[in-house]
Amino acid sequence: MATLQEILAARKLPELMTMNDGGAVAGIGGWEKRRVELLDVLAQEVYGVSPAPVPASWKLEEEAAAYADKAVEKRFTVSFDTPKGVFSFPLYLAVPRSEKPAPCILLMNFRAQIPDEYYPVEEILDHGFATACVYYEDVSSDDADMENGLAGCYSLAERRDGQMGKIGCWAYAMSRAADVLLEQPELRKDGIITAGHSRLGKTSLWCAAQDRRVAGCISNDAGCSGDAVTRGKLGEHIVDITANYPFWFSASYQRHRNREEQMPFDQHFLLAAIAPRPLAIGSAQIDEWADPQSQLLSCIAAGPAWQLYGLGALAMPQEMIPVDSALQDGAVSFHYRSGTHFLSRRDWQYYLNFFAKKLKL
Ligand code: GCU
Repeated sequence: MATLQEILAARKLPELMTMNDGGAVAGIGGWEKRRVELLDVLAQEVYGVSPAPVPASWKLEEEAAAYADKAVEKRFTVSFDTPKGVFSFPLYLAVPRSEKPAPCILLMNFRAQIPDEYYPVEEILDHGFATACVYYEDVSSDDADMENGLAGCYSLAERRDGQMGKIGCWAYAMSRAADVLLEQPELRKDGIITAGHSRLGKTSLWCAAQDRRVAGCISNDAGCSGDAVTRGKLGEHIVDITANYPFWFSASYQRHRNREEQMPFDQHFLLAAIAPRPLAIGSAQIDEWADPQSQLLSCIAAGPAWQLYGLGALAMPQEMIPVDSALQDGAVSFHYRSGTHFLSRRDWQYYLNFFAKKLKL
């Protein structure tokens, strides 16, 4: 049986550590420039170019004791300027009562309901984290309508090459939520961790890759066009995702249908742009559409970015790791859970334990 190293070599991924002009990346200074190149190709070819950051303001709408008085819950309205006027969306925050500022996991979620089957707020608090949540359709609908919400503020209906799609909108909104969280005295300024599942895992990665104020990233079952390398993967490919969800991406992404071998990028570029910050990737056994092995290969291929900073990356295992196990020794955590495509309690436990260690809670 082929080893993982052989499988990775056969994927023939584009070189992470070679600049566009063919030169080798030299040290951290060289990597900083390479990271700009990576973000640029991902913006132009996959997600679209994000608007320049316009810092958000906030209004506290509600505040109440919660979870047996262990925590305080707040609801804010986040507002910022766009070319078509002020755009606003709601932000939920729960903070454990403590003398010390807490790190905060910022989840972009599928439902406005809190807590939710993907979002065990009390457990997150009990691990010493604050947590914030945005409901993604408060930002823009998850469909081809480019006129509503934040999408409507940027004339995205034109669908020009390089214009962002819905993932770009959701990721930009996460950064605007981070503006507000970074102003809250009860939160650690070096502790904002973005999180999301599936299409919102892709969103969490794209936000963290671009926004260096984000201290860490969680991406659960993101798969195609997220945390899995595209070349040679099982399940979903660009031809599928751009047929079913063209509106998630820049129109330019369509060009790469059935031409994946020629792409000047692959998804390990996205993960590497998050280095040196800690990154946690979750996969599930019954999720061939996302392809756990290609998620693991992506983590391994991105590893040199963390190594450049002297941090341990994922050690390459001989083969796919056993079900219900994790690699968590370096700056990148990868776990492989039994069961289907879902953001489960088991996933959260891996993430919370990893980040509690990284943030020395
Ligand atoms: C679809 C899509 C995936 C996506 C998933 C989800 O299955 O093909 O790419 O990750 O939806 O967001 O749940």
